[in-house]
Amino acid sequence: MAYDEGILTDSQMLRSAYGSYGTGVTVVTTVPADGSPVGLTVNSFSSVSLDPPLVLWCLDKSANSLQIFEQTSHFAINVLAHDQVDLSNTFASSGEDKFSGLDYTTGAGDAPLLAGSVAQFECESWATYDGGDHIILVGKIVAYRRNNAPGLLYIGGQYARSTPA
Ligand SMILES: Cc1cc2nc3c(=O)[nH]c(=O)nc-3n(C[C@H](O)[C@H](O)[C@H](O)COP(=O)(O)O)c2cc1C
Repeated sequence: MAYDEGILTDSQMLRSAYGSYGTGVTVVTTVPADGSPVGLTVNSFSSVSLDPPLVLWCLDKSANSLQIFEQTSHFAINVLAHDQVDLSNTFASSGEDKFSGLDYTTGAGDAPLLAGSVAQFECESWATYDGGDHIILVGKIVAYRRNNAPGLLYIGGQYARSTPA
């Protein structure tokens, strides 16, 4: 099959090429010392290391929550289930109170753990790196849980459900 040749200055085309790599969908949450919880939809999540147990995700430097995540001691990664598209859209918006009416508990550092998620990783902030127009946040898992519900996927700019290949 023919390729569209990549033009590095065409960010839309580069974004589309990145989007050909399918991912799961997560909501990353935290709470500032004296404020309300914050969270955003994230598909840049990746597992990194088993020993020590490390994960990473990337945060856009233009996100409203940038300063809070740069300073937080803990955050939680909530891996979304296939029926949580609405939740993903809520946390992908820049609304004031994304947690209003939501069912959640709290984990390490009081980071929100969203009901119905497939897996929850409670993390201690481990390191932060510069990543161009994003920052790369590495977390050390201090507790986690999972169930067998099917996860929500994201590929080609669209949500999808997994079926075995
Ligand atoms: C499927 C999906 C994946 C996303 N992944 C990321 C991501 O990895 N990093 C990021 O910074 N923004 C990501 N976003 C965009 C943020 O969720 C969105 O900009 C959000 O409004 C930022 O919230 P804030 O500005 O309140 O912090 C994603 C959005 C969607 C729909």
